[in-house]
Amino acid sequence: MDWQAYERDAQAALEGASTSEEVEGVSVSYLGRRSELKQALREVRDRETGMTLNAVRQAIESAVAEKLNRVEAEELERRLAEERVDVTLPAELLGPIKPRRRGSLHPSTQVRRDVEDIFLGLGYEIVDGREVETTRYNFDALGFPDWHPSRSPRASLYVTDDTVLRTETSPAQIHKMEEHRPPIYMLSIGRVYRRDTIDATHFPIFHQFEGLAIDKGITMADLKGTLLYVMRQLYGPDREVRFRTHYFPFTEPSMEPDVSCMVCGGAGCSVCKHSGWVEMGGSGMVDPYLYEFVGWGPEEYTGFAFGMGIERIAMLKHGVPDLRKFYDNDVRFLEQFA
Ligand code: DAH
Repeated sequence: MDWQAYERDAQAALEGASTSEEVEGVSVSYLGRRSELKQALREVRDRETGMTLNAVRQAIESAVAEKLNRVEAEELERRLAEERVDVTLPAELLGPIKPRRRGSLHPSTQVRRDVEDIFLGLGYEIVDGREVETTRYNFDALGFPDWHPSRSPRASLYVTDDTVLRTETSPAQIHKMEEHRPPIYMLSIGRVYRRDTIDATHFPIFHQFEGLAIDKGITMADLKGTLLYVMRQLYGPDREVRFRTHYFPFTEPSMEPDVSCMVCGGAGCSVCKHSGWVEMGGSGMVDPYLYEFVGWGPEEYTGFAFGMGIERIAMLKHGVPDLRKFYDNDVRFLEQFA
């Protein structure tokens, strides 16, 4: 076997190859497992032949590598040239322009922004809360007694024994109070989590906004005036607000505010269950326990707090009968709020 001729043939074949595939082909025929060279190498008996064959192998290998480099570089050049897009070309020359469908904000995002605008207008600061809370902030700091049913893992979604997906936006109050001395006028909006069975008015994730105002000399009249203003901004200038007594662990006294029905105006309809009034959420005067919790004197300040559901507002504003619609991602529903 003339191995010099073998090497020359390989070189010539490489010369003729112009794509990386062709180069691979040459490599397989001259260096591959079934090439004459590999067969011969397998049968080598003496040192001298071994050295010759290995030299031939190395020469062909480096020729292949070199050629492959060159061909690949050329191929890349060619692709870059061919696939170049002329960004200065007028779009219509590239083909018919399809009108692009514009999306719109989700109805709960719209309400969220409306609520933010209303409170910013009142001089409130908007603060972020934490979706994963310690039980200390979600329950203890807010005065939830040990036996309170919300603490049960059947009611709330626990991450560990003492961390929980926040069940309400109220813990934001405590964080704010720990950071900052009054005057405080803050609003916090975000997702909350409860272990609720999904139905037309329950979903394990929903959104709330939480308001807190603490200053010197704040009274319940300020709370009522604030809620009246906010409800009129949200539902129109004719709305009225009333309070029903209630209980929350972190307010004393606690009230559930109602707004006069935005559908029938108070005459009675199915939305207000023929009472003329629609429940809005919870509110009350900040319990002095919270002031003590953050290390202030119990008598130094007074304040009020309130919390409401964003989806509920969107449902009432738009007459949506089923909360689940907000989480279906069904464009036919969502595009009605564009
Ligand atoms: N956190 C309460 C809930 O989710 C709502 C609430 C009630 C918030 C009274 C408040 C409040 O700030 O003062 O049911």
